[in-house]
Amino acid sequence: MRDDVKVVPYADMSPELRAMIAYEGNHALDTQCPYNDFARVQRETPVVRWEMGVGFFTMADIVAAGNHPSLVSAEPNSGEAFGMGSAEPLIPLHIDGDLHRRYRKLIDPLLAPRKVAGLEEGFRQMTDEIIDGFIDRGRVEFFSEFADPLPARMFMQLFGAPAEDLAFFVERKDAILKAEGATMQEREVVGRAAGDGLRARLREIVAERRSGAADGSDLIAEFLTWEIDGDRLTDDDIVNIMHLFVIAGLDTVASTISCLIAWLAGHPEERHRVMADPALVAPMVEELMRLESPVPSSGVRWAIEDCEINGVPVNKGEMVYLCWGAGNVDPAVFTDPLTVDFHREANRHIAFAAGRHRCLGSHLARLELRCAIDQFHRRVADYEIAPGEEVQYKFEGVRHASHLPLVFTPR
Ligand code: HEM
Repeated sequence: MRDDVKVVPYADMSPELRAMIAYEGNHALDTQCPYNDFARVQRETPVVRWEMGVGFFTMADIVAAGNHPSLVSAEPNSGEAFGMGSAEPLIPLHIDGDLHRRYRKLIDPLLAPRKVAGLEEGFRQMTDEIIDGFIDRGRVEFFSEFADPLPARMFMQLFGAPAEDLAFFVERKDAILKAEGATMQEREVVGRAAGDGLRARLREIVAERRSGAADGSDLIAEFLTWEIDGDRLTDDDIVNIMHLFVIAGLDTVASTISCLIAWLAGHPEERHRVMADPALVAPMVEELMRLESPVPSSGVRWAIEDCEINGVPVNKGEMVYLCWGAGNVDPAVFTDPLTVDFHREANRHIAFAAGRHRCLGSHLARLELRCAIDQFHRRVADYEIAPGEEVQYKFEGVRHASHLPLVFTPR
């Protein structure tokens, strides 16, 4: 056993660690700087062993675990997935091995850099339309009026889902991701009930598209043509892909935009530098994603056999928790990890995860983040948090600035 593995029973964990490792709804990470907590947990307990399994908090261990073939992302006995409003494994997140590789080969090209680059102009236009809705007011509730609706609109278009379903999709993904309950099991029951409604509507959309009711230059049209081992995907397969995209694509970008703008709003010197030099937007997005890590961890992994992760034994059937947010403040990888530096030479952060299930929407997400922030900066002369107000953060698996009242001077 490595000497940095600490055994910490769940009852003895700090509220912050319980919020990380079990998504306990205790609000301990509803803070402006959760990275301080990630750094502290990493220092004190780089590897945690608790009743359910093992949690990893350093970059080297997280990357090794993310790539390890003995760790899978659906519970191996039942084949069930958790936390996303579906007992059925979502594709490709909850499948592993060769089938996962084949799905990634089909899905990755749809969101490859060259493909998403073609979306930039339309996305900037969409961003402007949303800004038009509040620009004359000189004030905006940034999360609900800008960050949340923007990626959702983009997504509906890309997906080829009827625009009138937008509000329903947003409401369902919130009900799934923010399901309330005292225990993980209770939250799972509530989340799955919300997921049932989403899946029923997705099934209808697939049926409408199969009957040729709409044209086909979007993601759903692609899914309908795909084959695995010579067989077309079934409606269930397609629903399992679409369900994952709704959860993975809507909330993450919205939350990240809000965290980044909240940080800039609170740091006038850096904000003015970025506003004066648009070339800084891309490195700023990377650096703040590293520090803020709006998706600080994701679905757990399970060991399908006894194995070792960098010398740490993991037993068959145990859970493995990976904390991307802690990896992103690992001093072994990043100099002064808690300091923001837009000019970091190699910023190999893992805000989009590490290993086999690394985010396949990262190119689209980056495009949306850069364009949304750049477009906002083009339309306002300056902005700040409304006087007398405070930003409120919420951590519900994904972290966002839920209350972000900004005042600004329109250009
Ligand atoms: C800033 C925005 C985003 C962040 C921070 C983010 C983060 C992540 C993370 C941490 C994972 C790993 C999940 C795990 O291992 O359990 C992941 C996977 C995934 N993401 Fe993203 N994501 C973002 C945007 C998107 C978008 C826009 C899409 C789709 C349009 C997307 C689609 C996916 C999919 C399909 C997977 C599963 C990949 C696999 O299992 O092989 N993501 N993302």
